Amino acid sequence: MIYARIKSCKKLDDGSVIRSPSGSTVTAETKKIENIDGVTYIDGVIIANKTYSLPEDFGDGLDSEALEAFEIMSSDAAEEDLWMEIISGFRSYYTQAVTYQSFCNDRGTEEADRVSARPGHSEHQTGLAMDINSTWFTFADTAEGKWLKQNCWKYGFIIRYPEGKEDITGYQYESWHIRYVGRELAKTLHESGETLEEYFGIDSVYRE
Ligand code: DAL
Ligand code: ZN
Repeated sequence: MIYARIKSCKKLDDGSVIRSPSGSTVTAETKKIENIDGVTYIDGVIIANKTYSLPEDFGDGLDSEALEAFEIMSSDAAEEDLWMEIISGFRSYYTQAVTYQSFCNDRGTEEADRVSARPGHSEHQTGLAMDINSTWFTFADTAEGKWLKQNCWKYGFIIRYPEGKEDITGYQYESWHIRYVGRELAKTLHESGETLEEYFGIDSVYRE
């Protein structure tokens, strides 16, 4: 937390100066950024985007808490006759390298960078991200896609690359890609409409 006292003063036409009596205190939240063994955490939340990468050997599967949250979410959705499955969960550095390269081969690097993370930069490597049902744009218009968008925050997930935030997240809208952040942060982000980048005041840009 940062504290600052603000005093204001104004010079009048006759040359005299009036000052505010004592100044008021403003506070600003500061986020704690840590790099532990090459992995970036902000306030304990692991960050993987174009700016922040993961080591090659990081990750070994889906996070158990995230998986449990998905199971509760999908069983609640099933009560409403909606069916959700994880079509891509954990992806290793090497799997991501193959995935990214195939996008580069098909579409060129510029377009690949809008839809696929370079190896070491994918959230899938954290074990906290999942693609649900389909990676077609049409997923957003399915009953499951609409339900996910409205309800995933209740289970601790966010739609990580929302519509209209491509310049901030670095990726085009992915209605199917959810990221587990825990219920408290998911609720905060749902209410504010912010991405992780906006909330933490970070960017998502390749610098190499
Ligand atoms: N499609 C997302 C950005 C990834 O490759 O991790
Ligand atoms: Zn994904």
